[in-house]
Amino acid sequence: MSGVETFRNLQSEATEWRRYLHENPELEFRLDNTARFVAEKLASFGINHIETGIAETGIIALIQGESGDGPTIGLRADMDALPILEASNKPWSSRVLGKMHACGHDGHTAMLLAAAKYLAQARKFKGCVALIFQPAEEVELPSGGLKMVQAGIMERFNISQVFGMHNAPGIDVGKFATCHGPMLASQDDFDLVVKGKGGHAAAPHRAVDPVVIAAQIILGLQTVVSRNTDPTDALVISVTKLKAALAYNVIPDRVEMAGTVRTLVPRLRDFAEQQISAVAEGIARGFGAEVEFKYLRSVPVTFNHSEETNLAIKAARALVGFDFVDDKLRGRMGAEDFAYMLEARPGAIIYVGNGSTASLHHPAYDFNDDALPYGIGYWVKLVETVMGA
Ligand code: NI
Repeated sequence: MSGVETFRNLQSEATEWRRYLHENPELEFRLDNTARFVAEKLASFGINHIETGIAETGIIALIQGESGDGPTIGLRADMDALPILEASNKPWSSRVLGKMHACGHDGHTAMLLAAAKYLAQARKFKGCVALIFQPAEEVELPSGGLKMVQAGIMERFNISQVFGMHNAPGIDVGKFATCHGPMLASQDDFDLVVKGKGGHAAAPHRAVDPVVIAAQIILGLQTVVSRNTDPTDALVISVTKLKAALAYNVIPDRVEMAGTVRTLVPRLRDFAEQQISAVAEGIARGFGAEVEFKYLRSVPVTFNHSEETNLAIKAARALVGFDFVDDKLRGRMGAEDFAYMLEARPGAIIYVGNGSTASLHHPAYDFNDDALPYGIGYWVKLVETVMGA
């Protein structure tokens, strides 16, 4: 088995890039330095078709195989950091106060760069590889993945399949995990305002107290999942924000609430919207109050397509062996904006083990550089699996 050893000689260089990106995090679409760094590296590998400035700071680079006859597949990495104050205490900690790579997108970028370097030299495939470096994965509405799709990258570069990879703390380095179908949840958010009638807290009978009504609504919403949803379908409704009066002795006019809805079942998004609205309105009306309800659709379900998932599993097993690839991962309720690319084209995302690092989005998180050769190797094996010469 030609396993991961082939890719170890790229590890020190990829580590250097990863740590440079880690020291210099940028947020959202404002990735000028990161994008410049990526484009310069790609050019230094002899890749001459590089398009920058897509969805502001996104990049597409094309590598032609030794025979141009074949499909174009998209390999995607995200490049943005998070507004978190780093506490990893690593020598390569963020130099920018309040910004850090806490989701490992520095590692994702470095792995795709190193794979690009390898593929641009070897070119042992038929067709074309489109490297997709996207901004603003962590942004809600509209995020970088959606904007790249809206910018027409799939059509313009003739991409027929797309593949993604994310690091996973808690999975051993050297292991991979994925699944067919829904792997990550959709993310929708909602705002709910309960409009009552304010008054003195000592005279509640002369008011319509929105605080008590909001409390009933919060409890009522718990039954949408437990009483109205098929127990084998994954749905989460969490109320996360609550804003009422600012004084001990005041019944406010209104209470503002907000929350999030996650599901692995796309049709439950419509259902949750209707049911949250119905429960809130019904309860409020019963107590003489009104509600204002807004449901905000964000990232769709990250859905792995069957054929492409099989290719991803095959590629990972070609790298690390059969037993080190879990092909039956349980869906997770986090969200991932690669979902937009999977809506536009068939494809699959896979987790690469990141070992015992802190969890994603934690201030002490740092991408595990030991995972780099596995991620690099996966991309190369995937290209060879899908379009091997
Ligand atoms: Ni991430």
